[in-house]
Amino acid sequence: MNVLRTKDEIGQFRKQLKEAGLSLGLVPTMGALHQGHLQLVQRACKENQSVLVSIFVNPTQFNNPSDLENYPKTLESDLAKLQDLNCPIAVFAPEISEMYGDDPSARNYDFGMLENVMEGVYRPGHFDGVATIVEALLQLILPDRVYFGEKDYQQLQIIRELVRQRQIPVTIVPCPIVREKDGLAMSSRNVLLTKRLRGEAPFLYEILKEAKNTFGTKNASEIEQYAREAFQKHPDLKLEYFCVADAETLLPIGSKTKEVNKKYRAFVSAYLGGIRLIDNLALN
Ligand code: PAJ
Repeated sequence: MNVLRTKDEIGQFRKQLKEAGLSLGLVPTMGALHQGHLQLVQRACKENQSVLVSIFVNPTQFNNPSDLENYPKTLESDLAKLQDLNCPIAVFAPEISEMYGDDPSARNYDFGMLENVMEGVYRPGHFDGVATIVEALLQLILPDRVYFGEKDYQQLQIIRELVRQRQIPVTIVPCPIVREKDGLAMSSRNVLLTKRLRGEAPFLYEILKEAKNTFGTKNASEIEQYAREAFQKHPDLKLEYFCVADAETLLPIGSKTKEVNKKYRAFVSAYLGGIRLIDNLALN
């Protein structure tokens, strides 16, 4: 596996691809790869002649220092998983100083309402950190396509806005959420759950499915109320938000009437033990 560590190496890699006329797909990740990530890589392999997977635990997007400290780091097994896919993949795994010099800090962005709801409220500064690193990666790597999972749906909308604002010439490819057999959305943080709590984790998806089933008959406020009560009855789960929102603007519908030609999604965030889980589901 070709593992690049520096911006200079990326410059050479990019030049070679350009000279050979090969298209490039980028899959940005923070490593601890699972099937959710590998699905993005496989899609990128189908649609591009070469693929770069970045593996970088980006310090500026962690608003909680212990979350950063506990974040799983498994480069060797990540490389083995990518190798097994049998497609032309290179990996970019820079040190923090390579991306940030000696000052790992985020830039300030204005994403309007997109950053003032849900994750934006509960993880202050998070999207500035995400946008800082994604913009740096896109400007450095200049991929033809970049792949993001709908697991982090708000992040996907933020990146769309970033690319629009900065006029970055790249196609964003959204990919569906990959789930465990019991419905839990795959996440690098799932390995941090104890066996007992892992058994409780599919509850988030159960409530999202319930929201989808009742979306025609209950209004958004009633669904949110139902979800809050269901979480209150659950001793191990601490709900942060459950929100029914416009899938494009992410604005909550509340008691407003639905519009026929719009897409809506339900979004949830909850703590299970000390572990923060997020998930979402299309409602129509
Ligand atoms: P990370 O959490 O490693 O996720 C990398 C990509 O994999 C994201 O686009 C995420 O949405 C996608 N992904 C994770 N779990 C998934 C699942 N179960 N199904 C589908 N896609 C899934 O997201 C980040 O890293 C970072 O914020 C990053 C964009 C790399 C910037 O640092």
